[in-house]
Amino acid sequence: MDDAVAHAFPLEPSPEDMHRLVDQAMAYITAHIDSLPNQPAANTEGGAELARSLREDLPEQGQPYHKILEFLFQTAIPTSFNCAGPGYLAYVPGGGIFHAAVADLISNAVNRYVGVWAAAPGLAQLEANVVRWFCDIVGYPQSAGGFLTTGGSLANFSAIFTARRERLPDNFLSGTIYTSEQTHHSVQKAALLAGFPPHTIRAVPTDVHYRIRLTALQQQIETDRHSGQKPFLIVGNAGTTNTGAIDDLNALADVAQRESLWLHIDAAYGGFFMLTERGKSRLAGLQRADSITLDPHKGLFLPFGTGSLIVRDQDTLRRAHSGDAAAYLPSMQDDPDFIDFCQISPELSRDFRGLRIWLPFKLHGIEPFRQALEEKLDLAEWATAQLRTMTDIEIIAEPQLSIVAFRLKRPGFDTPALNQLNQRLLNAINSRKRVLLTGTLLGDQTEDVVGGQFVIRICALCFRTHYDRVEMCLEDIRAACREV
Ligand SMILES: Cc1ncc(COP(=O)(O)O)c(C=O)c1O
Repeated sequence: MDDAVAHAFPLEPSPEDMHRLVDQAMAYITAHIDSLPNQPAANTEGGAELARSLREDLPEQGQPYHKILEFLFQTAIPTSFNCAGPGYLAYVPGGGIFHAAVADLISNAVNRYVGVWAAAPGLAQLEANVVRWFCDIVGYPQSAGGFLTTGGSLANFSAIFTARRERLPDNFLSGTIYTSEQTHHSVQKAALLAGFPPHTIRAVPTDVHYRIRLTALQQQIETDRHSGQKPFLIVGNAGTTNTGAIDDLNALADVAQRESLWLHIDAAYGGFFMLTERGKSRLAGLQRADSITLDPHKGLFLPFGTGSLIVRDQDTLRRAHSGDAAAYLPSMQDDPDFIDFCQISPELSRDFRGLRIWLPFKLHGIEPFRQALEEKLDLAEWATAQLRTMTDIEIIAEPQLSIVAFRLKRPGFDTPALNQLNQRLLNAINSRKRVLLTGTLLGDQTEDVVGGQFVIRICALCFRTHYDRVEMCLEDIRAACREV
């Protein structure tokens, strides 16, 4: 492209300008990624002032590129949780493998449309392959299918919506949904979005391992049937956010089968541990679910914005999500070999998310992902063994996957005092900035503790977290225990 054209159409950079844009950004990106281990695990002080100072009017004029990059990398990005760094052991860590960023650059630059098969048959097939691989990972049959979402919340939403359409009449308000006390709050939100008022959602108590109590579930279903409600959906957990708890999935599938209920499993965090032998045995029964949420931006270390919903029978998604044919769209596929994602999901126009997963899988094969997940299971087990050797530390939830929950105990302290002590302990650990841990409230399953006990969680899931960082975490816990 000549200079005159580039000048007349600034939204169309020349090939040289494209190189310059990417090369200059790359210089910052590589320096940033290189420095991740030395960056604070979280650095949000001054965040409110920063955010206020950044309000601005719609820019009428452009700014030099280097200034924009400098601002992003020196001002905006550093004031944040270091979610992509090795010390991020908080919440459920994401990832951010670089190959996915390259895939996004490609897919955004070519900007093809994969929502409708006819618009990009080959690319739609690549995304369909990714979905098929996910179905294979959990052990689903050939009838299975699914689609990629922006995350677990939207996957849970489409699952509940599909279950509603499959199991309830249009007038569905007598339908009841069964979750556990430990189910992620996105499930309740998804149910609300799917039209279910809070009083139709049951939170069944859990046992000492934070798994749904099956007798309580069965009793609740019977009570609801007797009072004229229509139980239609159980949402099981394959790795809770609080402690990584895995419900007895085979038992849930038995209940669902006996009662003719839809079984959805929220495996947003835990599902990809099916790649490992330990995960497979702990998640036994997962493939019996009617639908499963899996989050590649958790268990496959992808950047935020990549979730998925898979179902045993793809036709259920089609019945729930397909609309009448629109005259302005290309015709949809009748051949079962080809998929129009817009017919089985809520979205029409969207990014080509499939490439973000397809490219790294093709480049590396699945083995490095499997090994990284094995490593996370090892890290959680090892951290637990180390915590056990520390005076006054009590393990509240053994790792069922890669989360361990613990607290500091002191003789004579009641629950409110212990909660305060552990909140101070958490602050003291995090103040060292080598790791970021988070706390949560857990009901004591053996005593009735009002409001719950405050516990500290270590969640190892970032692909950059290795033994050395967990060692630092343990050192900081020891030092913080002495301090408080
Ligand atoms: C078990 C579980 N389910 C669902 C979600 C929601 O997923 P997302 O944040 O991708 O919407 C999370 C998020 O951490 C989760 O841990």
